[in-house]
Amino acid sequence: MTVPDRTQVGIVGGGPAGLLLSHLLARAGIDSVVLESRDRAYVEARQRAGVIEVGTADLLRDVGLGARMDRDGLVHGGIYLQFAGERHHLDFVDLTGGGTVTVWAQTEIVKDLVARRLADGGAIEFEAEATAVDDLTTERPVIRYRDAEGATRELRCDAIAGCDGFHGVSRPTVPALSVTDHEYPYAWLGILADVPPSTDELIYAHHTRGFALHSLRSPQVSRLYLQVAPDERIEEWPDDRIWSELATRLGVPGWTLETGPVREKGITPMRSFVSAPMRHGRLFLAGDAAHIVPPTGAKGLNLAMADALVLAEALEALLLHGDSGPADTYSDRCLRRVWRATHFSWWMTSMLHRPVGGDAFDAALQLSQLRYVATSRAASASLAENYVGYTMRAA
Ligand code: FAD
Ligand code: PHB
Repeated sequence: MTVPDRTQVGIVGGGPAGLLLSHLLARAGIDSVVLESRDRAYVEARQRAGVIEVGTADLLRDVGLGARMDRDGLVHGGIYLQFAGERHHLDFVDLTGGGTVTVWAQTEIVKDLVARRLADGGAIEFEAEATAVDDLTTERPVIRYRDAEGATRELRCDAIAGCDGFHGVSRPTVPALSVTDHEYPYAWLGILADVPPSTDELIYAHHTRGFALHSLRSPQVSRLYLQVAPDERIEEWPDDRIWSELATRLGVPGWTLETGPVREKGITPMRSFVSAPMRHGRLFLAGDAAHIVPPTGAKGLNLAMADALVLAEALEALLLHGDSGPADTYSDRCLRRVWRATHFSWWMTSMLHRPVGGDAFDAALQLSQLRYVATSRAASASLAENYVGYTMRAA
């Protein structure tokens, strides 16, 4: 398919934010072109998020993307919180009056979105790398990019959505951006393993050797994480060492961690990052392009999807009805939700990770906090409310 040189909304980045935005715009009758620097196979296989909020699951259903999720996704009514060798169950359904989360991988959401856009005749240009966004304060901004053949091209638009993740080109072009950046002295070593999960719900484990998380992808595939140092080298972690460390940190009496072939492994640094405003003229930032949270709260993908929803509605008002009101409030509305998730993710991270350079005072406070969350209904309800998520459209 030839890519047009003109569209209503030019979308930089074909991750969850960009692809969902393109689908939502199409439903509103607005044309878009998605420019994605990687190829389709890479985008569909990139291992990332695994848990979505109830509002994200409902959104996927509402826009016709819920069929596979409802068939193959796993609805979870809680998590386990583990510390001092004790495993406590937090019952989200009870604590939130019916709230749940769904184990449904980002890879599956991306596959469904790509398939649906292409089936609907949508334009996704893979291996097309945006090099610049320009003329942002005019009504005809432009994206310059290199296409799959290496040719330099331009896409003229009525608006541009910068959905190009943390390392994209969009954010750096916004002048006078206010940036809040916090790096944590931890990283996560994550594995994807062909072994049935040894648990029915996620286990978040505090351990004197460091944090561990047992998550899953399906009844046959497990996803597990270990806290490691940010400069840790993956070569130093053969599979046996990973399994042994996971078994130690996740272990409780009478429970066994089943092991199996490791299909993939990698190390991800952790940071909190918020840039504001999320708009400059006709450029709108969405998802990881504007904000990053550490994965401990399982929020990043949900934030990206919520931004896409709020942005689709703002662009519909702006481009179809000449109403700039929702576009003017887009950034503030998203940032309120972003800061709530930023606080929650920081709080979960601080409570569960072994502090670097921490003393006995820090360790005792952490354990006291964990015991309070596990035993107080008010404290566990607060965790549950944040984990299952907030309304998709902030007021
Ligand atoms: P991205 O997924 O980063 O997509 C951006 C896209 O833009 C990419 O496809 C990239 O190739 C493309 N791009 C970049 N530059 C250019 C360019 N110049 N031109 C064209 N294209 C470009 N979130 C949760 O909600 N729950 C979880 O359980 C969870 N777990 C996580 C676990 C890990 C280990 C990690 C790393 C993240 C996790 N997240 C989780 C976060 C979540 O994966 C991200 O927040 C999400 O991917 C954000 O989507 P996005 O579309 O904004 O950005
Ligand atoms: C995952 O399954 O990848 C996952 C789950 C929960 C988190 C982070 C990642 O908090």
